[in-house]
Amino acid sequence: MRDKIEVLIDEEKLQSRIKELAKEIKNDYGDEEVVFVSVLKGAIFFTVDLMKDYDGDAIIDVVRVSSYVGENSTGIIELKVPLKEENVKDKNIILVEDIVDTGRTFNYLVDYVKQMNPKSIKTCVMLDKPSRRVVDFKADYVGFSIEDLFVVGYGLDYDENYRNLPYIGYIKN
Ligand code: IMP
Ligand code: MG
Repeated sequence: MRDKIEVLIDEEKLQSRIKELAKEIKNDYGDEEVVFVSVLKGAIFFTVDLMKDYDGDAIIDVVRVSSYVGENSTGIIELKVPLKEENVKDKNIILVEDIVDTGRTFNYLVDYVKQMNPKSIKTCVMLDKPSRRVVDFKADYVGFSIEDLFVVGYGLDYDENYRNLPYIGYIKN
């Protein structure tokens, strides 16, 4: 199956951008502790590498939502693994996602986290597809802005496949 994939962002470029993002975040938070909340499952790979490059106090938590079937967003977001209020309240939350597409997932998650009274909330995405927005949303930290392509790899899947590719690619027609 891998032979059908064209590389869009190679491993080296991806990893060096993640190091830059980690530095950018550290500059903003300094000595304050941050909580990286990884949006399962897609953002796991990105979150782990971002945290390993983060030279400061950080903890990890996870949340799981689902909204996507195949290539088409259903628009309905279901909370599958919630956060605990005690892990969010008065903390500096950074929501970490693999990709922002329509913006619905993040829009939902930011509201959800805000209800738990964090000290602050910011969003960090590996990839952004601004041309696909349905709801207004702008992430605070963006790895790469890409054109409207269905991408896979480095956590991103097509029906659960390809998540383990170390680069970002797209399926050749
Ligand atoms: P949104 O709610 O439309 O912004 O969609 C976000 C979710 O859709 C992401 O977390 C991904 O799981 C999925 N998604 C959007 N675009 C792609 C893509 O190009 N490849 C794989 N998954 C995608
Ligand atoms: Mg996702």
